Amino acid sequence: MAVKPRVFVTRILPEAGLKKIKEFCEAEIWTDPLPPPYATIRQKLAGCDGLVSLLTDKIDAALMDAAPKLKVISNYAVGFNNVDIPAATERGIAVGNTPGVLTDATADMAFCLLIAAARRVAEGHQYTVSGKWKTWEPLGHLGQDLAGRTLGIVGMGRIGYAMAQRCHGGWGMRILYHDVYKNEKAEKAFGAKQVELDTLLRESDFVSLHTDLNEKTRGMIGAEQFKKMKRTAVLVNSARGPLIDPKALHEALKAGTIFAAGLDVTDPEPPLGDDPLLKLPNIVIAPHIASATVGTRNAMAEICANNLIAGLKGEKLPAWVNPEVEGKRRK
Ligand code: DGY
Repeated sequence: MAVKPRVFVTRILPEAGLKKIKEFCEAEIWTDPLPPPYATIRQKLAGCDGLVSLLTDKIDAALMDAAPKLKVISNYAVGFNNVDIPAATERGIAVGNTPGVLTDATADMAFCLLIAAARRVAEGHQYTVSGKWKTWEPLGHLGQDLAGRTLGIVGMGRIGYAMAQRCHGGWGMRILYHDVYKNEKAEKAFGAKQVELDTLLRESDFVSLHTDLNEKTRGMIGAEQFKKMKRTAVLVNSARGPLIDPKALHEALKAGTIFAAGLDVTDPEPPLGDDPLLKLPNIVIAPHIASATVGTRNAMAEICANNLIAGLKGEKLPAWVNPEVEGKRRK
């Protein structure tokens, strides 16, 4: 019987993907609920042909160098800022991700955070469970209206588009977007208008971040940007925490420079226990769960397994982050 390729899987994934992986590979699966430490990944990977990583695993050049047989990294996420892609390409390692299948779930979460922050749902829940609710209050808990307002989408890719679709279709919102690419589909479907970031920040009632994290976008929303936003604005982030400067966000929320924020991602993740953001009333924070639906996570696991297996076979990955590696892939 042919020897199966060896792979390391850094967490238990949905069975939809794990079953395929176990059939095709000799898989070692990290079963702890917390991620394996960097040194452990490095040690486990030494004799491996493939790796299934999560967004919580830092996969850098040093780690790749410690795994001379590594042919493929299959990242269980659409985002891949945790993997050094140029280093992988340079070493002939194919990298896969899981785009497409989490678009709706992620846009749903952004939509949910937008309403929750605008209508002060988390604050209201605290008020109720702590026994402070005494009567109906004409002037209590006032939030922001949604219908007919302006939504600014930063990053009009698949998820940004799905968020615009929900807000335009549901509340008739006017859509502005900031992106390096023009999105003609969104312009046609929602009359979306491409603008500079400053214009978007000045004119939007809601700002929703859907861009990837890279050296250009890191900290793109900081003190200067908050000053440009409306005092009634709500900021939503379902992309990556470090897009926002957390200290500036805290100051903006505390000083009332903006009205509220809804986050599915933070910097760091999770927030430290003494993070002052956790003490503010006008923020709602979810623990990076935008793709956490049964169907979405199953679909992600399948793509992840298919990417891994294709990479091990030296075939085209179904969702390939670095197709430019073709021609110099490790055998
Ligand atoms: C991703 O896929 O990048 C999300 O952050 C987690 O599903």
